[in-house]
Amino acid sequence: MLRTATPRHYLMVRPTYFDVEYSINPWMDPGKPTSTELAIAQWGWLHDLYADLGHRVELLDPRPGLPDMVFAANGATVLDGRVLVARFRYTQRTAEAAAYLDWFAARGGYAEVRQAQWVNEGEGDYLVAGGRLLAGTGFRTNPRAHDESAAYFGVPVTGLTLVDPRYYHLDTALAVLDADEVMYYPPAFAPESLEVLRSLYPDAITASDEDAAAFGLNAVSDGRHVVLPQAATGLIAQLRERDFEPIGADVSELLKAGGSVKCCTLELRHA
Ligand code: ARG
Repeated sequence: MLRTATPRHYLMVRPTYFDVEYSINPWMDPGKPTSTELAIAQWGWLHDLYADLGHRVELLDPRPGLPDMVFAANGATVLDGRVLVARFRYTQRTAEAAAYLDWFAARGGYAEVRQAQWVNEGEGDYLVAGGRLLAGTGFRTNPRAHDESAAYFGVPVTGLTLVDPRYYHLDTALAVLDADEVMYYPPAFAPESLEVLRSLYPDAITASDEDAAAFGLNAVSDGRHVVLPQAATGLIAQLRERDFEPIGADVSELLKAGGSVKCCTLELRHA
């Protein structure tokens, strides 16, 4: 029996100015050619898919000079109608935060909108899992940001330390499938964090080296459909075995910037 989907509300940014102009993660090679046109087409497919699945998608206008803006997941964390706008680690992306502050202020309807004091890259490192926030650190998000988020959202925060530079954001190494189900790539985590994951999720799906490198963990689940890069064939089979409905996406162009499906998708969670 297939699982039940719940309708979601997402915020996305069209990759109008997408390019790889600098390198802030090991996937980015500014010397390699990129096609903005292809990035727009692949992103458009994902955008339309969400709409077809019955989700509500809103758009934030891209700004010139910010080639990584398509990665909307990094702009904020939104939980129970409370918005915590990111504070980016690298200067190349710091100006993105203002666009999110402006968008949420103009949009209205949120209980509180604030920019974080400590460096954190939104849902890149914060994943909502049931009533808990799984919080990455090691490459981008400052561990002190975890306490700030726990106080702001009033939820328990479980810190997880990343150790492999290729998996620099938590959402490149772990995906939340349902309130109490996740899939992850064990070698991306420090030994003590792996212990935490094993005790919280003893039956979790784990990813092979190949599936992790295909960005298979950069996935978006609505409880039934799991959208992930199509090359992650092992994960696709494992998801099917557990009665999810995996949907493979071709986001090859965005991979050149070290991002994929989840990175393009910020979930807006209302109270
Ligand atoms: N080039 C971007 C960066 O390094 C990619 C961000 C990917 N986003 C994500 N949620 N993992 O910041």
